[in-house]
Amino acid sequence: PGDAARDDDGALTLGGVGLAELTDRFGTPSYVLSEGEFRARARAFRDAFRAAFAAGKPEQRTTVDVYYAGKAFLCTAVARWVAQEGLCLDTASGGELLVALRAGVPGARIGLHGNNKSDAELRRALAAGVGRIVADSLPEIARIDALAAETGVRAPVMLRLTPGVHAHTHDFIATAHEDQKFGLSLAGESEGGDGTGAVGPAGSPAEAAVDAALAAEHLDLIGVHCHIGSQIFEPDGFEAAARRLLAFLAHVKDRHGAELPELDLGGGHGIAYVPGDTPREPAEIATATAAVVRETCAELGLRVPRISIEPGRAIVGTAGITLYTVGTIKDVRVDLPGETGTAVRRYVSVDGGMSDNPRPVLYDADYSAVLASRTSAAAPVLCRVVGKHCESGDIVVRDVYLPDDLRAGDVLAVPATGAYCWSLSSNYNYLPRPGVTAVRDGSARPIVRGETETDLLARDLPDAAGETDV
Ligand code: LLP
Repeated sequence: PGDAARDDDGALTLGGVGLAELTDRFGTPSYVLSEGEFRARARAFRDAFRAAFAAGKPEQRTTVDVYYAGKAFLCTAVARWVAQEGLCLDTASGGELLVALRAGVPGARIGLHGNNKSDAELRRALAAGVGRIVADSLPEIARIDALAAETGVRAPVMLRLTPGVHAHTHDFIATAHEDQKFGLSLAGESEGGDGTGAVGPAGSPAEAAVDAALAAEHLDLIGVHCHIGSQIFEPDGFEAAARRLLAFLAHVKDRHGAELPELDLGGGHGIAYVPGDTPREPAEIATATAAVVRETCAELGLRVPRISIEPGRAIVGTAGITLYTVGTIKDVRVDLPGETGTAVRRYVSVDGGMSDNPRPVLYDADYSAVLASRTSAAAPVLCRVVGKHCESGDIVVRDVYLPDDLRAGDVLAVPATGAYCWSLSSNYNYLPRPGVTAVRDGSARPIVRGETETDLLARDLPDAAGETDV
């Protein structure tokens, strides 16, 4: 994180707090979240997008809401930081909604997502007066309408659309139907008439959903939404998606004579995990987005809609680190590609692993690691940092240079673990999930307590096992 530093003795500090002091107080593995970095990133997105869309001619100006995507990392303290920084909160389940409400986030500043929301989740959202429910299918539109009628409220609804953009490869193509579970396809039955040969929205599921939502008695259709993927660096996919959704809004205007007020462009902005990753800064993303939206609206004769975005990783990812204690170190003779003969790979085992960070095993994700508890002048040696789970794929950092004198008891810090680590953590092998400590201006406070062995056994019902004799 931006506020990581070394103290006079060479030990790593975060938010002005020595990480060694944190390991003494909270043990390892543990997650540490820099509150200053989190708030700074939240503000950076908010300010950059508001400024970019407040510039230009009066008819090009619009307001922007930034919905922090709670799935990346959510607890009560973080939900409060989000609200205090003037952001809204995107939730993806009844549980995330529960945390948002417990934190006191006003319902109007909460969104609810999901491709298979239960009636209970929708009822909770309607009772809380959420600012938007993002509908993902035609049957869901009918269900929300019925539940709104039953609750006696109007439901603000956005439609999640599938713009047919393949962002990761930035080899995006106008696929007629994206083969995945989310959203309503924009692809209709015939050519779009834009000369590209691409299929237009006439007769598409997206069009049918707009018709249904406008006809529904208890719904307010407030706009359309898309989310093209995650950990994306290139602007192309975002820009293509924005153009396609605006073209769809123009189609809706032709068909219904109404301009839908809001366009949500989702999250997915990438962060740096390892040296060499070059993510765009929020200001750059905001300026590019505003330019594309304005240009496209001008071409299509649309008013610039209200804009929202849903960054998760790009706000919390670099604010978090994980601390581990080094245990077993083993030199293994291996055939390394590109080397002649046999070489040695140093396996450095730590006291956590895929239960606190499943991303390397799930997505082949890369991380880095540094010696946090001291400095060392020893020569750097190529190491693989591995966890303590019963799987050979349990890798924390695939390749990293660490000092030759690394020894058991040293503390390693793995940066950029703020997003999708704690939220994806598990109790695999009955490991307790680590707690989360927030650091800020030289002080540290736990915001999620680490699990204990009592927690580990709490839901296991021994009486159900029948006979007590074994
Ligand atoms: N909005 C919607 C509708 C989403 O589905 C997501 C992420 C976001 C916003 C936030 O995306 P972000 O800005 O954080 O990239 N577990 C995976 C990431 C899954 C993302 C799911 N949806 C990982 O660890 O990489």
